[in-house]
Amino acid sequence: MQVLHQLPKFDDPNLLYGCEAMSDAGVYALDQRWAIVQTVDVLTPIADDPYTFGAIAAANSLSDIYAMGAKPLTALNILSFPPDEIPPVVLREIIRGGCDKVKEAGAVILGGHTIRDSEIKYGLAVTGIVKKNEIISNDNARIGDVLILTKPIGTGVIATALKNKAVAKKIVETANKSMLNLNKTASILMKRFKANTSTDVTGFGLLGHTLNLAKASRVGLEIYASEVPILPGALALAQKNFFSAGSIANFEFAKPYVRFASTVNKTWQMLLCDAQTSGGLLIAIHKNRADKLLNAFYREGIRNAKIIGRVIKGRGLQVK
Ligand code: CO
Ligand code: CO
Repeated sequence: MQVLHQLPKFDDPNLLYGCEAMSDAGVYALDQRWAIVQTVDVLTPIADDPYTFGAIAAANSLSDIYAMGAKPLTALNILSFPPDEIPPVVLREIIRGGCDKVKEAGAVILGGHTIRDSEIKYGLAVTGIVKKNEIISNDNARIGDVLILTKPIGTGVIATALKNKAVAKKIVETANKSMLNLNKTASILMKRFKANTSTDVTGFGLLGHTLNLAKASRVGLEIYASEVPILPGALALAQKNFFSAGSIANFEFAKPYVRFASTVNKTWQMLLCDAQTSGGLLIAIHKNRADKLLNAFYREGIRNAKIIGRVIKGRGLQVK
Protein backbone atom coordinates (compact mmCIF):
# COMPACT_ATOMS: atom_id res chain seq x y z
CA MET A 1 0.00 0.00 0.00
CA GLN A 2 1.21 3.50 -0.77
CA VAL A 3 1.01 4.42 2.95
CA LEU A 4 4.09 2.27 3.59
CA HIS A 5 6.21 4.63 1.53
CA GLN A 6 5.75 7.31 4.21
CA LEU A 7 7.46 5.43 7.05
CA PRO A 8 10.16 7.18 9.05
CA LYS A 9 13.52 7.17 7.27
CA PHE A 10 16.40 4.94 8.25
CA ASP A 11 19.86 6.22 7.45
CA ASP A 12 21.99 3.11 7.30
CA PRO A 13 24.64 3.27 4.56
CA ASN A 14 23.86 -0.35 3.66
CA LEU A 15 20.21 0.47 2.94
CA LEU A 16 20.31 0.86 -0.85
CA TYR A 17 16.57 0.93 -1.58
CA GLY A 18 14.03 1.37 1.21
CA CYS A 19 10.44 2.45 1.73
CA GLU A 20 10.75 5.72 -0.16
CA ALA A 21 11.87 4.01 -3.38
CA MET A 22 8.28 3.36 -4.64
CA SER A 23 9.16 -0.28 -5.10
CA ASP A 24 7.78 -3.35 -3.28
CA ALA A 25 11.17 -4.78 -2.48
CA GLY A 26 14.00 -3.34 -0.40
CA VAL A 27 17.71 -3.81 -1.00
CA TYR A 28 20.39 -4.02 1.70
CA ALA A 29 24.12 -4.27 1.01
CA LEU A 30 25.96 -7.17 2.67
CA ASP A 31 29.47 -6.20 1.59
CA GLN A 32 31.31 -4.50 -1.29
CA ARG A 33 29.85 -6.86 -3.83
CA TRP A 34 26.56 -8.38 -2.71
CA ALA A 35 23.16 -7.19 -1.54
CA ILE A 36 20.01 -8.94 -0.34
CA VAL A 37 16.57 -8.10 -1.69
CA GLN A 38 13.54 -8.67 0.54
CA THR A 39 9.83 -8.53 -0.19
CA VAL A 40 6.50 -9.78 1.13
CA ASP A 41 3.15 -10.23 -0.61
CA VAL A 42 -0.09 -11.91 0.49
CA LEU A 43 -3.22 -12.64 -1.57
CA THR A 44 -6.83 -13.65 -0.97
CA PRO A 45 -7.84 -16.69 -3.08
CA ILE A 46 -7.59 -15.92 -6.79
CA ALA A 47 -8.29 -19.45 -8.04
CA ASP A 48 -10.95 -22.03 -7.10
CA ASP A 49 -8.39 -24.80 -6.70
CA PRO A 50 -6.27 -24.43 -3.52
CA TYR A 51 -3.10 -25.89 -5.06
CA THR A 52 -3.30 -23.44 -7.99
CA PHE A 53 -3.99 -20.54 -5.62
CA GLY A 54 -0.91 -21.43 -3.53
CA ALA A 55 1.30 -21.63 -6.59
CA ILE A 56 0.01 -18.32 -8.02
CA ALA A 57 0.48 -16.57 -4.66
CA ALA A 58 4.07 -17.83 -4.54
CA ALA A 59 4.81 -16.75 -8.12
CA ASN A 60 3.34 -13.35 -7.25
CA SER A 61 5.53 -13.02 -4.13
CA LEU A 62 8.69 -14.09 -5.97
CA SER A 63 8.02 -11.56 -8.71
CA ASP A 64 9.34 -8.52 -6.82
CA ILE A 65 12.70 -10.30 -6.44
CA TYR A 66 12.86 -10.96 -10.18
CA ALA A 67 11.85 -7.38 -11.02
CA MET A 68 15.08 -6.19 -9.39
CA GLY A 69 17.22 -8.67 -11.30
CA ALA A 70 17.85 -10.70 -8.15
CA LYS A 71 17.83 -14.45 -7.50
CA PRO A 72 15.45 -15.75 -4.80
CA LEU A 73 17.16 -17.86 -2.13
CA THR A 74 14.78 -18.35 0.80
CA ALA A 75 11.10 -17.84 1.59
CA LEU A 76 8.73 -17.98 4.57
CA ASN A 77 5.07 -18.98 4.31
CA ILE A 78 2.40 -16.64 5.65
CA LEU A 79 -1.04 -18.24 5.89
CA SER A 80 -4.19 -16.95 7.56
CA PHE A 81 -7.49 -18.86 7.76
CA PRO A 82 -10.68 -19.39 9.82
CA PRO A 83 -9.79 -22.69 11.57
CA ASP A 84 -13.38 -23.88 12.07
CA GLU A 85 -14.35 -23.43 8.43
CA ILE A 86 -11.42 -24.62 6.36
CA PRO A 87 -10.55 -28.34 6.24
CA PRO A 88 -6.83 -29.04 6.78
CA VAL A 89 -6.53 -30.65 3.35
CA VAL A 90 -7.27 -27.28 1.71
CA LEU A 91 -4.50 -25.62 3.71
CA ARG A 92 -2.08 -28.41 2.87
CA GLU A 93 -2.85 -28.01 -0.83
CA ILE A 94 -2.26 -24.23 -0.70
CA ILE A 95 1.11 -24.77 0.97
CA ARG A 96 2.00 -27.59 -1.44
CA GLY A 97 1.29 -25.28 -4.41
CA GLY A 98 3.49 -22.60 -2.86
CA CYS A 99 6.31 -25.06 -2.12
CA ASP A 100 6.33 -26.46 -5.65
CA LYS A 101 6.55 -22.95 -7.11
CA VAL A 102 9.40 -22.03 -4.78
CA LYS A 103 11.23 -25.22 -5.83
CA GLU A 104 10.72 -24.30 -9.48
CA ALA A 105 12.31 -20.94 -8.66
CA GLY A 106 15.34 -22.77 -7.23
CA ALA A 107 14.73 -21.35 -3.74
CA VAL A 108 13.79 -23.02 -0.43
CA ILE A 109 11.08 -22.46 2.18
CA LEU A 110 12.58 -22.17 5.66
CA GLY A 111 9.38 -22.00 7.66
CA GLY A 112 6.50 -19.64 8.19
CA HIS A 113 3.65 -18.45 10.31
CA THR A 114 -0.12 -19.05 10.45
CA ILE A 115 -2.74 -16.60 11.71
CA ARG A 116 -6.38 -17.07 12.73
CA ASP A 117 -8.40 -14.78 10.50
CA SER A 118 -11.86 -14.44 9.01
CA GLU A 119 -10.64 -15.34 5.53
CA ILE A 120 -7.89 -17.25 3.78
CA LYS A 121 -4.82 -15.27 2.83
CA TYR A 122 -1.54 -16.72 1.62
CA GLY A 123 1.78 -15.47 0.41
CA LEU A 124 5.51 -15.46 1.03
CA ALA A 125 8.20 -13.27 2.47
CA VAL A 126 11.11 -13.80 0.10
CA THR A 127 14.82 -13.03 0.34
CA GLY A 128 16.96 -12.88 -2.77
CA ILE A 129 20.51 -11.99 -3.61
CA VAL A 130 22.00 -9.72 -6.25
CA LYS A 131 25.37 -8.24 -7.12
CA LYS A 132 25.25 -4.55 -6.21
CA ASN A 133 26.31 -3.46 -9.69
CA GLU A 134 23.59 -5.61 -11.29
CA ILE A 135 20.57 -4.29 -9.36
CA ILE A 136 17.77 -3.27 -11.71
CA SER A 137 15.79 -0.60 -9.89
CA ASN A 138 12.69 1.27 -11.02
CA ASP A 139 14.34 4.71 -11.13
CA ASN A 140 16.64 4.46 -14.13
CA ALA A 141 14.40 4.73 -17.23
CA ARG A 142 16.06 6.99 -19.78
CA ILE A 143 14.56 9.20 -22.44
CA GLY A 144 14.38 7.26 -25.71
CA ASP A 145 14.17 3.86 -23.99
CA VAL A 146 11.58 1.40 -25.21
CA LEU A 147 9.04 -0.14 -22.80
CA ILE A 148 8.44 -3.88 -22.95
CA LEU A 149 5.71 -5.75 -21.05
CA THR A 150 6.25 -9.51 -20.68
CA LYS A 151 2.76 -10.80 -19.76
CA PRO A 152 -0.77 -9.91 -20.89
CA ILE A 153 -3.03 -7.95 -18.51
CA GLY A 154 -6.62 -8.71 -17.51
CA THR A 155 -6.27 -11.09 -14.53
CA GLY A 156 -8.36 -8.72 -12.38
CA VAL A 157 -11.50 -8.70 -14.51
CA ILE A 158 -11.21 -12.46 -15.02
CA ALA A 159 -10.88 -13.10 -11.25
CA THR A 160 -13.87 -10.84 -10.50
CA ALA A 161 -15.96 -12.58 -13.16
CA LEU A 162 -14.89 -15.96 -11.71
CA LYS A 163 -16.15 -14.91 -8.28
CA ASN A 164 -19.47 -14.05 -9.95
CA LYS A 165 -19.45 -17.35 -11.88
CA ALA A 166 -19.64 -15.37 -15.11
CA VAL A 167 -16.66 -16.62 -17.08
CA ALA A 168 -15.84 -19.65 -19.23
CA LYS A 169 -13.44 -22.27 -17.84
CA LYS A 170 -11.04 -21.90 -20.76
CA ILE A 171 -10.57 -18.17 -20.09
CA VAL A 172 -9.79 -18.88 -16.41
CA GLU A 173 -7.31 -21.62 -17.35
CA THR A 174 -5.38 -19.31 -19.68
CA ALA A 175 -5.29 -16.59 -17.01
CA ASN A 176 -4.10 -19.12 -14.40
CA LYS A 177 -1.35 -20.31 -16.71
CA SER A 178 -0.14 -16.75 -17.14
CA MET A 179 -0.21 -16.05 -13.38
CA LEU A 180 1.62 -19.33 -12.67
CA ASN A 181 4.51 -18.34 -14.94
CA LEU A 182 7.52 -17.18 -12.95
CA ASN A 183 9.20 -13.98 -14.09
CA LYS A 184 12.50 -15.84 -13.68
CA THR A 185 13.46 -16.21 -17.35
CA ALA A 186 12.30 -12.66 -18.12
CA SER A 187 14.49 -11.42 -15.27
CA ILE A 188 17.60 -13.34 -16.39
CA LEU A 189 17.20 -12.15 -19.99
CA MET A 190 16.60 -8.49 -19.13
CA LYS A 191 19.83 -8.57 -17.13
CA ARG A 192 21.72 -10.23 -19.97
CA PHE A 193 20.55 -7.53 -22.41
CA LYS A 194 21.25 -4.75 -19.91
CA ALA A 195 17.78 -3.35 -19.30
CA ASN A 196 17.86 0.04 -17.57
CA THR A 197 14.82 -0.34 -15.36
CA SER A 198 12.07 -2.74 -14.46
CA THR A 199 9.09 -3.20 -12.19
CA ASP A 200 6.52 -5.97 -11.91
CA VAL A 201 2.88 -5.30 -12.72
CA THR A 202 0.61 -6.28 -9.82
CA GLY A 203 -2.04 -4.64 -7.64
CA PHE A 204 -1.81 -1.05 -8.90
CA GLY A 205 -2.48 -2.16 -12.47
CA LEU A 206 -0.38 -1.43 -15.53
CA LEU A 207 -0.85 2.35 -15.36
CA GLY A 208 -0.24 2.51 -11.60
CA HIS A 209 3.06 0.67 -11.83
CA THR A 210 4.01 2.54 -15.00
CA LEU A 211 3.36 5.78 -13.19
CA ASN A 212 5.55 4.73 -10.23
CA LEU A 213 8.34 3.91 -12.66
CA ALA A 214 7.93 7.30 -14.38
CA LYS A 215 7.93 9.17 -11.06
CA ALA A 216 10.94 7.29 -9.68
CA SER A 217 12.88 7.82 -12.94
CA ARG A 218 11.73 11.46 -13.31
CA VAL A 219 10.61 10.97 -16.91
CA GLY A 220 7.39 10.85 -18.91
CA LEU A 221 6.10 7.69 -20.52
CA GLU A 222 4.08 7.15 -23.66
CA ILE A 223 1.91 4.00 -23.77
CA TYR A 224 0.39 2.59 -26.96
CA ALA A 225 -2.90 1.17 -25.65
CA SER A 226 -3.57 -0.95 -28.73
CA GLU A 227 -0.17 -2.68 -28.33
CA VAL A 228 -0.74 -3.74 -24.72
CA PRO A 229 -1.18 -7.55 -24.65
CA ILE A 230 -4.42 -8.68 -23.00
CA LEU A 231 -5.60 -12.13 -21.93
CA PRO A 232 -8.25 -13.83 -24.06
CA GLY A 233 -11.71 -12.90 -22.79
CA ALA A 234 -10.52 -9.93 -20.72
CA LEU A 235 -11.81 -7.23 -23.06
CA ALA A 236 -15.34 -8.66 -23.14
CA LEU A 237 -15.35 -8.89 -19.33
CA ALA A 238 -14.06 -5.32 -19.11
CA GLN A 239 -16.94 -4.23 -21.33
CA LYS A 240 -19.28 -5.94 -18.85
CA ASN A 241 -17.56 -3.88 -16.13
CA PHE A 242 -16.11 -6.68 -13.98
CA PHE A 243 -13.73 -4.26 -12.29
CA SER A 244 -12.87 -4.76 -8.62
CA ALA A 245 -12.93 -1.93 -6.06
CA GLY A 246 -9.12 -2.02 -6.21
CA SER A 247 -9.08 -1.46 -9.97
CA ILE A 248 -11.49 1.47 -9.67
CA ALA A 249 -9.25 2.96 -6.97
CA ASN A 250 -6.25 2.46 -9.29
CA PHE A 251 -8.01 4.41 -12.02
CA GLU A 252 -8.88 7.28 -9.65
CA PHE A 253 -5.28 7.34 -8.38
CA ALA A 254 -3.74 7.40 -11.87
CA LYS A 255 -6.22 9.75 -13.59
CA PRO A 256 -4.63 13.11 -12.64
CA TYR A 257 -1.28 12.02 -14.11
CA VAL A 258 -2.52 10.46 -17.34
CA ARG A 259 -3.50 12.05 -20.66
CA PHE A 260 -5.69 9.66 -22.62
CA ALA A 261 -6.04 10.20 -26.38
CA SER A 262 -9.68 10.41 -27.52
CA THR A 263 -9.23 7.03 -29.25
CA VAL A 264 -8.74 5.30 -25.88
CA ASN A 265 -12.28 4.66 -24.63
CA LYS A 266 -13.37 4.28 -21.00
CA THR A 267 -13.26 0.46 -21.11
CA TRP A 268 -9.62 0.55 -22.20
CA GLN A 269 -8.76 3.27 -19.69
CA MET A 270 -10.13 1.03 -16.94
CA LEU A 271 -8.56 -2.15 -18.31
CA LEU A 272 -5.14 -0.48 -18.24
CA CYS A 273 -5.74 0.10 -14.49
CA ASP A 274 -7.04 -3.45 -13.86
CA ALA A 275 -5.37 -4.77 -10.67
CA GLN A 276 -3.06 -7.62 -11.70
CA THR A 277 -1.94 -10.69 -9.81
CA SER A 278 1.44 -12.17 -10.71
CA GLY A 279 1.68 -9.90 -13.74
CA GLY A 280 4.68 -9.52 -16.02
CA LEU A 281 7.74 -7.34 -15.88
CA LEU A 282 7.58 -3.86 -17.35
CA ILE A 283 11.05 -3.14 -18.66
CA ALA A 284 12.73 0.00 -20.02
CA ILE A 285 15.67 -0.76 -22.30
CA HIS A 286 17.77 1.18 -24.81
CA LYS A 287 16.02 1.08 -28.16
CA ASN A 288 19.02 -0.52 -29.89
CA ARG A 289 18.76 -3.56 -27.61
CA ALA A 290 14.96 -3.87 -27.44
CA ASP A 291 14.53 -6.16 -30.46
CA LYS A 292 17.33 -8.45 -29.30
CA LEU A 293 15.65 -8.76 -25.91
CA LEU A 294 12.26 -9.41 -27.51
CA ASN A 295 13.73 -12.12 -29.75
CA ALA A 296 15.34 -13.75 -26.72
CA PHE A 297 11.98 -13.65 -24.94
CA TYR A 298 10.26 -15.36 -27.89
CA ARG A 299 12.99 -18.02 -28.11
CA GLU A 300 12.53 -18.80 -24.41
CA GLY A 301 8.75 -19.07 -24.69
CA ILE A 302 7.76 -15.63 -23.41
CA ARG A 303 5.60 -15.16 -26.49
CA ASN A 304 3.25 -12.46 -25.19
CA ALA A 305 6.05 -9.96 -24.60
CA LYS A 306 5.51 -6.76 -26.55
CA ILE A 307 6.78 -3.23 -26.96
CA ILE A 308 4.04 -1.11 -25.40
CA GLY A 309 5.55 2.35 -25.24
CA ARG A 310 8.60 4.53 -24.81
CA VAL A 311 10.24 6.92 -22.41
CA ILE A 312 9.82 10.61 -23.24
CA LYS A 313 10.70 13.99 -21.74
CA GLY A 314 8.35 15.47 -19.18
CA ARG A 315 6.28 13.87 -16.43
CA GLY A 316 3.27 11.58 -16.19
CA LEU A 317 1.77 9.28 -18.80
CA GLN A 318 0.41 9.80 -22.26
CA VAL A 319 -1.79 6.95 -23.45
CA LYS A 320 -2.49 6.81 -27.18
CO1 CO B 1 4.53 -6.79 -4.44
CO1 CO C 1 6.07 -5.28 -7.35
